[in-house]
Amino acid sequence: MTSSLPPSVAAHVPTGMLVGGRWRPARDGATFAVADPGTGETLFDVADASEQDALDALTAADEAFAPWRAAAPRVRADLLRAVFDTMTAHAQDIAALVTAEGGKPLAEARAEVAYAADYVRWYAEQAVRVEGLARRAPAGTHHQLVLRRPVGPALLVAPWNFPVAMIARKLAPALAAGCTCVVKPAQLTPLTTAYVAEIVRAELDARDLPTGVLNVVPTSSARRVSEPLLADPRLRKLSFTGSTEVGRTLQAAAAQHLLRTSLELGGNAPFLVFADADLDAAVEGALQAKMRNAGQTCVAANRFLVHESVAADFAERLTHAFARLVVGHGADAGTTVGPLIEAAAVERVEEVVTQAVDAGARVRIGGRAPRRAGYFYEPTVLTSVAPDLRVVTEETFGPVAPVVTFGDEDEAVRLANATPYGLVAYAYTRDVGRVMRLAEQVETGMLGVNRGAVSDASAPFGGVKQSGLGREGGEAGLEEYLDPVYVAL
Ligand code: SIN
Repeated sequence: MTSSLPPSVAAHVPTGMLVGGRWRPARDGATFAVADPGTGETLFDVADASEQDALDALTAADEAFAPWRAAAPRVRADLLRAVFDTMTAHAQDIAALVTAEGGKPLAEARAEVAYAADYVRWYAEQAVRVEGLARRAPAGTHHQLVLRRPVGPALLVAPWNFPVAMIARKLAPALAAGCTCVVKPAQLTPLTTAYVAEIVRAELDARDLPTGVLNVVPTSSARRVSEPLLADPRLRKLSFTGSTEVGRTLQAAAAQHLLRTSLELGGNAPFLVFADADLDAAVEGALQAKMRNAGQTCVAANRFLVHESVAADFAERLTHAFARLVVGHGADAGTTVGPLIEAAAVERVEEVVTQAVDAGARVRIGGRAPRRAGYFYEPTVLTSVAPDLRVVTEETFGPVAPVVTFGDEDEAVRLANATPYGLVAYAYTRDVGRVMRLAEQVETGMLGVNRGAVSDASAPFGGVKQSGLGREGGEAGLEEYLDPVYVAL
């Protein structure tokens, strides 16, 4: 364990797997190392689940399903509310863990914990509001009742970029609905999940609720865990957040038993700045949309599409704003941009920036990886960027802002839609008519208008096209874990 994690926090991180309410090592005793991306040093060795460990976890989830689905909605709501309270009370410790294993600056990690806890609170509130329907059939022949019942044991596969929020966004609605869970945290960030899972386990235990409701299987091989689980008919639901490529493979495997599937996949968010935009607000929003977690979010602004009349001014202001950012270890005071998650991430960013520069893009600031321990890349603004370069067409997942110009609204929409992805778009304009046209024409599941953040526990988060299926958050997020049952009466 390194000094980037306070000893008081380190002492309370479970490093085993949670199966049937008990933390234990892998059956074969295997472990894998979890590192601090800000230093490259190992933080902990964590139990490495085998195929059999994964099946043990599913057995526990399956056995707990009958009592958990029968638990009163108020019981589930109270459990989640207690988890919210404990997460909030331990917010500093959870944030320290998020920073240690994920790299983001502490202030951002604290914001992530609050965001995560908000999902838990929202679904605590929703657990007692699962609605059905009663009406007379149009022909008058019978009555129609529509009830909602939990889908069943769920596999929740979380990404590394929000180690607490993405688990909370899946786990809270699953538990609220009455599903039991097997959680597979990201290999790079299993510690935060373990810490939060222990909060849930302790609350279940204290209330004498079935302990197999939540199971956690960290692993160095996602496939080793997901393949046997997706092949097992006891599993009834898959929720995955991660790359489109992996999502496609998982969906194919989930087709064996036609699982209910929610996929939150890659993005390539356009950030549109129109000629009538408030440029100060646009730059502030750009910082938020681009630099959260050093650009490593699926909702990160990936390409800045700016009207040609304001592009030079916008790029100049953005360059000044980037110059004020402080790159460093997430736990250091003053850091505003942490490391990327691993060496391969830095190499990838270097590759796309090099391709852009070779093709004539101008580096206004940044454009290199600083020489220091850990996996860092400097905040970078590129201008004179052609829209067909990889830095524009691919999800960069790094602190790079390529500025592309457009001539009119039609061209802006065409450029925005010129991608197989459709998660989110951002638009800065004062024209309400234009906002409504963009809402109709831009092919994304979410649109941020004059703001650089859209995420909210009470809103439906998700994409269209190859950015995914289903929604997380809001009322829609609960529906993903419920099956409607129609009773003809
Ligand atoms: C993500 O990057 O996958 C999620 C970001 C968010 O919820 O805001």
